This record gives sequence, C-alpha cells and structure tokens, in this order.
Amino acid sequence: MRSDVLNLAAQRNMFLSPEALEIVLSDPEPRMFINNILSAISKNTMFIGKDDVLGFLSGNTEKELRTVAPKNKRQPDISIIPGTDVTGESMCEGKVDDFSKYFMNRYNALRDILKRKTGAPVPIERVRSMDREVHIIGMVSETSVTKNGHRMLRLEDDSGSCKAIILKDSPHINDIIVNDEVIGLTGSPTRDGMMLVASEIIRPGVPSERWEPSDSVASVAFLSDIHVGSHTFLETRWKSMAKWLRENAKSMDLDYLILPGDVVDGIGIFPGQQEELSIDDIYKQYNRLAEYLKEIPDHIKIVLQPGNHDAVRPAEPQPALSEIFTKMFDSNVMMTANPVQLNIEGRTILTYHGRSIDDWVASVQRLTYEDPVAVMKEMLDRRHLAPMYGLKTALAPEKKDYLVIDKRPDIFVTGHVHGAATEEYRGIRLIAASTWQDQTEFQKMHNFNPQPGVMPIVHLGTGKTTMKGF
Ligand SMILES: [Fe+2]
Ligand SMILES: [Fe+2]
Repeated sequence: MRSDVLNLAAQRNMFLSPEALEIVLSDPEPRMFINNILSAISKNTMFIGKDDVLGFLSGNTEKELRTVAPKNKRQPDISIIPGTDVTGESMCEGKVDDFSKYFMNRYNALRDILKRKTGAPVPIERVRSMDREVHIIGMVSETSVTKNGHRMLRLEDDSGSCKAIILKDSPHINDIIVNDEVIGLTGSPTRDGMMLVASEIIRPGVPSERWEPSDSVASVAFLSDIHVGSHTFLETRWKSMAKWLRENAKSMDLDYLILPGDVVDGIGIFPGQQEELSIDDIYKQYNRLAEYLKEIPDHIKIVLQPGNHDAVRPAEPQPALSEIFTKMFDSNVMMTANPVQLNIEGRTILTYHGRSIDDWVASVQRLTYEDPVAVMKEMLDRRHLAPMYGLKTALAPEKKDYLVIDKRPDIFVTGHVHGAATEEYRGIRLIAASTWQDQTEFQKMHNFNPQPGVMPIVHLGTGKTTMKGF
C-alpha cells in the first residue's frame, strides 16, 4: 500500500513527505484519499507536506470534496466501444459459407491473442512431417477419452487438422477443454506421425493487472433479469430498491445502471409460460418496465441489453431492442446489443446476458449453476463468451465473432442464472448480477434457489465492489 500511494503521487510528479504519507496511510482508503488530494492540489506543487494534507482535510470533508471538485460532476461519460455492438451491423444470412467464415474469424482473432504469448505456430498440415516438438494453434473439433484414460483431441486450423493425445499422467489431463475453443498446444509427433503427444496446453487468458485507481468518484450498478410481466417479479423489493436510489444515488454519485438482459419475461419463451405471466402482452411488459425505470432518478444513465427472454432474435450476438419498444423509454435509457463492451469513465465493462452458461454447465461436470463466476473465469481464460456451437446458445454467423473477448475488461458482468456473486479474477471485477424474480416453477423442479434482490455496485475510481441487498 505504501508504495502504491507513493507511485500514484510520482505518476503526477509529486512527492510526499514522510509525515504526509503516514496521514494518507491512516485513512481506510489510502488510494482514493491520495487521488483526491492529488486532484485538489495545485499542479505546480511538487512536494506535499503534512500541512498540505491537513489543510486539505480541514477544508474538505468527503462530501464537500465532491462539491469542491466539480470536474468530477461532469456530464455522463459513457460510450459503446466501437465494433462491439452488432446492432445495425448484422450481415449474416446463415448460409454454410457464412459459418465457415465466422469460425475462421474466431480462429484468427484468438490465434492473434495466443501468438502474442507463444510466438508463431506451425501450420497443422506440416505436423506430420516434423520430427521435433512443435507448437500449434487449433480449434478443438472433437474431444474423447480413450479406454486407457488418455484424452484425445482433434485440432483444426486453416491448413488442416490433426489428432493430439493428452496422456493420463500429464498435468493437463484434467484441464477443461470444450468444443470449438481455440487453444495452443505444444507436443511431439508420434513415430508414425499420426498424432501429437501434448506436453503443454496454452490458453489465450487475460493478463493479471492491478485496478489502477482513478479520480472518478462515480459508481456503476447492475440489475439483471428483472422479468417484468412474470407472476414472480418481485415488485415490492424492486420498489424499495428504486426508493433507495432516489434517496442515495445522487449523494454517492451512483451515475450508471446496467441491465444485462431478461428485462421482461417475454411471451412463448418456454412451454406453459402463459400460466406464469401477470402481463401477457409483450408491448405492455416493456411499457411497464419503462414506467418502473421512470422511478429511477433522471441523472442515472441506464444501459438496457437484451437476454433470451427479450423481444429480439435469440441468436447471439443479439442486437438492441427495436424502435417499437425503445420509443417507450426515457432518453436516459441507452439500448445496446448483447454482448457489448462499454467505456464508462475510462473503465472497460464487458456485459453479456450469459445464455451460454447453460452450455458450460451441461458440458463440464465441475461447473454448476450455483457458481456462475467460475464459468466466467473459463470464458476469460478462453477469451470467448460462448465457444460451444450447436448447443442451447444459438450463434449467428456474423462476419466477425462478437463473442470473442478481444479487450481485457475491468468489469465483466453476466446475468441469466439468477445468482448474485462477485469475485476478483486477475484484477477484473466479475459480477453475477442477481435477479428481480422469485423462484420459478422450473427452478423449483430443478431444486435451484435464485438469489434475487441484490444490486452489485462498483466504484469506478477505486474498484470497490459492494453487494447491496433489498
Ligand atoms: Fe432470466
Ligand atoms: Fe436468461
């Protein structure tokens, strides 16, 4: 912490006296404290002494500081990162050729990320003629377990395909490997050249980086899976949350709210849904949601993203809601695709409804609905939100694979499974953003207990994450 504080000052060419440093370190949030001091102090100051810090403290309580620093009370600073929102960009017709181009785009994007770690791979067609250890990058097209307990993979690149074996005593024998993910593999060809014996499996991964504090004083909150129109929508808890926002959002600079999909329950999403609806008209469902959102303070910029219950195509990436729905909402509501990457006050936020979690849980024994954050880590390791093709998550063969995680996010949020959790992974804030729907009949049948009524909040300056329950 001591060196963090000194570094933050040094980055702005300022230096702290030992006494000033001690005062800063005695604060419960030294990083935020020093950032506030640094923002408040004249740019011409090079040495910050005890008197500077005390002067700052006496003249500025935390509340006053916000009014003293009006530059932090600026206009909302939120934008969609270019190239990450499919709305209006969809080009696919679903032809066979579109799919091969789509997978080629995925392969190339992930190979480029892997290459930065491992160097250039050997084209797979040349593996047979090699008599030394080689490194390849391939898309997994088959996995199986032999009767002796080894694992067999088939890997493909644009030149061809090959088999690889992970021996049962390899440290990689229990690695999670799913279809259509792109991996790096180092291995030696067998004598007959028929396959590679794997010694190393390399994933694209995300670099581990510290959350660098900034002078932002704003926070972003998340409300997933609202399911307006369902009998089990928790209206009383929703209303107490909206009331809390009206009373607190302004003073705590909670300026952004993201809704990661399933904002309404929809119509005809699953057999027998009719019985569970309190509003059985899709327009009226969105209308009611628009009314609920009007009860949220106007200064909050709201991002609304669709999920699998919303009135857009189910195939991912899903474009934003169309105008017949969006015109019901106030101008502080911004419509985006699913997934999308946002830039809010300098932080990158990847928000994805999370439909593919169904496929991860169905395909990998050790992943469960109870621990969505573990699934999110697998997505980050593979730099892909929904690698498995042909399961529950329909994928639209766009020219570009919008489900590739091409940029390391600062915050990664999903919904869909109705769980509430947060964890830090390699410096990234992972968030499973709860729900505003009580346990459904389907969940009862499967013995699944949702965690409704929780609003995760992330401070954009410090990265501090809190789970506010209602
Ligand atoms: Fe949902
Ligand atoms: Fe969902």
